[in-house]
Amino acid sequence: MQKVSLLPQLELLVEDYKRQNLKVGFVPTMGFLHSGHLSLIAACKKECDVCIVSIYVNPSQFNEPSDFDSYPKDLKKDCELLQAASCDLVWIPTAEGVQSIPLDLNYELNGVDVALEGKERPGHFKGVIEVVYRLFTAVNPDVAYFGEKDYQQYEVISKMTRNNMLNINIVSVPTIRESDGLAMSSRNVRLSPGDRKLAPELHAVLKYLSTEGDNNIEFAREKLIKKGFKVEYLTPYELSAGGKRLFAAVRLGDVRLIDNVPLINSPSV
Ligand code: PAJ
Repeated sequence: MQKVSLLPQLELLVEDYKRQNLKVGFVPTMGFLHSGHLSLIAACKKECDVCIVSIYVNPSQFNEPSDFDSYPKDLKKDCELLQAASCDLVWIPTAEGVQSIPLDLNYELNGVDVALEGKERPGHFKGVIEVVYRLFTAVNPDVAYFGEKDYQQYEVISKMTRNNMLNINIVSVPTIRESDGLAMSSRNVRLSPGDRKLAPELHAVLKYLSTEGDNNIEFAREKLIKKGFKVEYLTPYELSAGGKRLFAAVRLGDVRLIDNVPLINSPSV
């Protein structure tokens, strides 16, 4: 596995891959990798000749400075995991390196950015599309992989890619969960032991609603609140491709968790 930081180093390697006509797959991350990230890398390895992973904690997509400051980091372990996953190239840029990439972006997202996370976290998706556009410009991949854990992000990136006429295939990969159902997330380590025990209730409720239909949402919301969750939203949402998923954002202490599941009786999910 090659490890680079500087943009010109990355560009030389990518040019070399392109000269050899290799299919380049890309997995952008913010590090502190877990099995969710590794499943994206496994999908990339299966479908592409080369797998490039970036690790960059992007300040402009955080709404709360404390969330950015306390975002967990372990670059040494990340590199060990990437090596074991047969990643070909890890790019760990500096903030200056990322900002030096020109931003010639069409911000139109056809409304997928205004509900759910877009509503609760103003400016979040602007930060996400700006950084992903810049990472895409540098890596120039044929395919890029995103997790269904952040389903709205996947939709936002798909729209950004289409509206900017980038020739990149955006692929979604199912959510990887702990054995108790909690969606894996780098932020889970910040849960207190008590909240960590409580956290899988979110998925239990979503799973129940996913098969029972969305008529019981108010009952489910009350149940979560009684157990100690602060519920930001728990709501079905129409997907661009048609059909609905059920989306939730909650807080346990100062840790924010998001999750989503398909609505089983909804078409095209
Ligand atoms: P990060 O939270 O590190 O996630 C990187 C990728 O891993 C995203 O596509 C995310 O959806 C996926 N992922 C996270 N947890 C997952 C899980 N439990 N199962 C499956 N996939 C999972 O998302 C970001 O970083 C950033 O917003 C980024 C796209 C890198 C832009 O800064």
